[in-house]
Amino acid sequence: MSNDPNVDIRHVDAEEWHSLSVLLHGYAFGESPTAPDQSDSWREGEKYREDNTRLAAFVKGEPAAAVVGMPMRQNLRGLVVPMLGVSGVATHPAARRQGHVRKLLTQLHGELRDSGHVTSTLYPFSESFYERFGYVGFPKARSIRLRTDGLQPLLKRELPGEITFHRIGAAFDEYYAATELLLGERHGFGRRGRKSAQQLGDDDKEWLVFARHEGEVVGVFRYRTLGHGATIAGREFLYRTPVGRALLLQWLARHLEFDSFTFTLPPDDRPDVWYTDLAYADETRIQAPSMSAPMGRVLSVPGLSGMSAGSASITVKIDDDPFVGGTWTLSGTGGVLDVKEGGTPSAQLTSHGLAALVYGVLDPVDLPLRGYGEVSNEAAATLRTLFPAATPFLFEQF
Ligand SMILES: CC(C)(COP(=O)(O)OP(=O)(O)OC[C@H]1O[C@@H](n2cnc3c(N)ncnc32)[C@H](O)[C@@H]1OP(=O)(O)O)[C@@H](O)C(=O)NCCC(=O)NCCS
Repeated sequence: MSNDPNVDIRHVDAEEWHSLSVLLHGYAFGESPTAPDQSDSWREGEKYREDNTRLAAFVKGEPAAAVVGMPMRQNLRGLVVPMLGVSGVATHPAARRQGHVRKLLTQLHGELRDSGHVTSTLYPFSESFYERFGYVGFPKARSIRLRTDGLQPLLKRELPGEITFHRIGAAFDEYYAATELLLGERHGFGRRGRKSAQQLGDDDKEWLVFARHEGEVVGVFRYRTLGHGATIAGREFLYRTPVGRALLLQWLARHLEFDSFTFTLPPDDRPDVWYTDLAYADETRIQAPSMSAPMGRVLSVPGLSGMSAGSASITVKIDDDPFVGGTWTLSGTGGVLDVKEGGTPSAQLTSHGLAALVYGVLDPVDLPLRGYGEVSNEAAATLRTLFPAATPFLFEQF
């Protein structure tokens, strides 16, 4: 795909990926030179990722740059669509700023769009870098440290339902099924495939509790204990109903010998109103390159058909984007989005502008201020009805 005869861009298999990854990803993301035991554990991990699309650029036969596409699914305002998770973006220091990653990412997006992926998400080392590729920023999931104080009254509260306690390895199938329910219910929720997710169960390094009510899993929490008097280090505090949340909190209240509990919450959750006298600190940090909020973009406009939408219709022109460029008429009919090509445009959007509206993260009047389009007040009112504000919660980390 490259015009330079010295540069070869091609797919690589898991074994070749492993050897170039030790060089490129070890250098970019790890402590390097990579130790042999680390390299062995990476090779072991690759067996869970058979479905990945691995693309690399070679200069005169030597690995220069790589990107990987992970097939996932994502909830877009109630519609679950195939989503590309972009990861492993790295160029050898000697080959940087020569356009390798631009070519690799463009090819990856194109191939995965052609195989049916409607959206793409990633965790950026720099937002402005991926803004060049049409991505818009999401709000970041909240990192909460909940104090033990204040939880005691919950111990005496009679709650419907029950908690069951497991090691993740023994209950992985049920855990995966519970996250599938959340995928169907929560806007922005991204989920990797079963095989890729299975590594968590096989590693078996976490406790898992389910909140159960009326025959359904209504809350899920994974964690490790870090020692007496220390912290319970949790992952995402996931619940589907208020009963699920109360049951999980009551479980935490049985751990008053710990100092605090840490976990992640969707950006719009409000522990301040969960219960009387709760005390917590919000430890959310946004700091490039390793503590960034995720970003997302749309790869296929027709693929948005079927997501929920308000009752309005508008034609938009999207410039300068190889995947979503064109003129599109977007109509919310019966609560569902219908997409048709063509029409007379009354607003102009960039790829970011479209993604910001679809994910619900920016108001239409923000778009001109960010350089994401030209939108009159009248068009903004229509777009606001069609795509009401929403808060995506990506969940998957990759
Ligand atoms: C970031 C990185 C992948 C860029 O790779 P690269 O092959 O040098 O990128 P390219 O030459 O294809 O540059 C693509 C575009 O980004 C710009 N760019 C490159 N590096 C950049 C940087 N560090 N910050 C901001 N913009 C950058 C280029 O100017 C170019 O812009 P243009 O195409 O609009 O002119 C590479 O520097 C790297 O491996 N960094 C360390 C690992 C890392 O952080 N990876 C990203 C993980 S999310």
